Amino acid sequence: MGKETLTITDNRTGKTYEVPVEHGAIRAIDLRQIRVSDDDFGLLSYDPAFMNTASCKSTITFIDGDKGILRYRGYPIEQLAERSTFLETAYLILHGELPTRPQLEDWIYHITHHTMIHENIKKFMDGFHYDAHPMGILAGTVGALSTFYPDAKNILDPANRQRQIYRLIAKMPTLAAFAYRHSLGMQYAYPDNDLSYGGNFLNMLFKATELKYKPDPVLEKALDVLFILHVDHEQNCSANAMRSVGSSHVDPYSAVAAATAALYGPLHGGANEAVLRMLREIGSKDKVGEFLKKVKAREALLMGFGHRVYKSYDPRAKVIRQTAEQVFTVTGRNPLLDIALELERIALEDDFFVNRRLYPNVDFYSGIIYQAMQFPVDIYPVLFAIGRTPGWLAQWQEMLTDSEQKICRPRQLYIGSAERDYVPIEKRK
Ligand code: CMC
Repeated sequence: MGKETLTITDNRTGKTYEVPVEHGAIRAIDLRQIRVSDDDFGLLSYDPAFMNTASCKSTITFIDGDKGILRYRGYPIEQLAERSTFLETAYLILHGELPTRPQLEDWIYHITHHTMIHENIKKFMDGFHYDAHPMGILAGTVGALSTFYPDAKNILDPANRQRQIYRLIAKMPTLAAFAYRHSLGMQYAYPDNDLSYGGNFLNMLFKATELKYKPDPVLEKALDVLFILHVDHEQNCSANAMRSVGSSHVDPYSAVAAATAALYGPLHGGANEAVLRMLREIGSKDKVGEFLKKVKAREALLMGFGHRVYKSYDPRAKVIRQTAEQVFTVTGRNPLLDIALELERIALEDDFFVNRRLYPNVDFYSGIIYQAMQFPVDIYPVLFAIGRTPGWLAQWQEMLTDSEQKICRPRQLYIGSAERDYVPIEKRK
């Protein structure tokens, strides 16, 4: 193999530069030396939407989009979904290694004992309109938690960070469930620390008059698997928001509020909700062809299809399809599944989708399971946010402890007006 460098010839000046290549990348800052004159700022790379720019080095998540591979800290997602639990996977993603039994017990103990929220947060939630979207409530209230934990500002203290990590992973389901019950006008159900993470979430959502809520073990396990599948996905839009906002050294509640807001969008975590609305709108299997014609005419997007990184089947979608079958043994088959399967079947044979390498992503089937489990549509992106919280925190912590990282501040190519004089209003045309 040749030298690990890149030679660049600037045809404007005829000069040649040699820049190192590390991990298959050059450093954009090495381009700065390429100038046409002494007062030239230096060459920039232009990359809207970060299509070909690595913003960090990371040891958290590996994706091979062509082969459909997803690994957390080296462990294949399929193995974690089958053999791990959400809290164990959260430990793994944050600490880099699977926990020993005492480490896991300690971790679960701490998360379980931080599930309560301050009573004033409930009052804060009461201020939201009855039909407020739970994702808007979640983004608002998780940000508001920063005012309850002013110590969270000490982000450079590892013990302090750990405390906020316990709190955030523990309280996200409580905030989410309270947001849901607020929208129904139902009394809030408090956390039950005897239950598992997912079981307790179901309790806080669905407990009615019974003294003790008993989650169905199949649904509890399915929810845990869905949370595992959502834990992290390297530098996606919300992880990037978490890192970017966190790089200002704001507290993690404020940064998680920003990440939650990023996730809310229909091109990101809001897609699972959009898929369900799309399937309902299509209505029946025989209307699938008609809908796909609209997609190809650019009148609609096939929600739950396509991905910036995956150019083959999203491995999470495969696990979700299997999980759906287990859920349906308890809930009965969701008729929307047949519409989704038909969409997938036709799309995967159609040149429009084949040529663009568009395959089902994680959101394509998750909504169908959520609906079968009686989750209201509005709460789907909230479920994504709960699962993603450990990933956001791992990305945040890695950013803070990386000596190469600084406050995120991209450059721009200014293409606006040159200097001009202010024109008084009476002289403007
Ligand atoms: N339906 C129809 N056409 C599509 C779709 C789709 N779902 N996705 C991409 N395309 C087309 C797109 O119009 C473009 O065509 P052309 O080259 O002729 O202009 C081509 O495929 C490439 O797409 P792109 O928009 O350049 O790809 P991107 O990497 O910028 O966007 C995406 C990725 C996920 C935003 C996009 O595929 C999309 O909008 N999908 C639907 C929303 C969705 O399911 N989002 C969930 C993503 S997975 C969960 C998560 O990580 O948040």
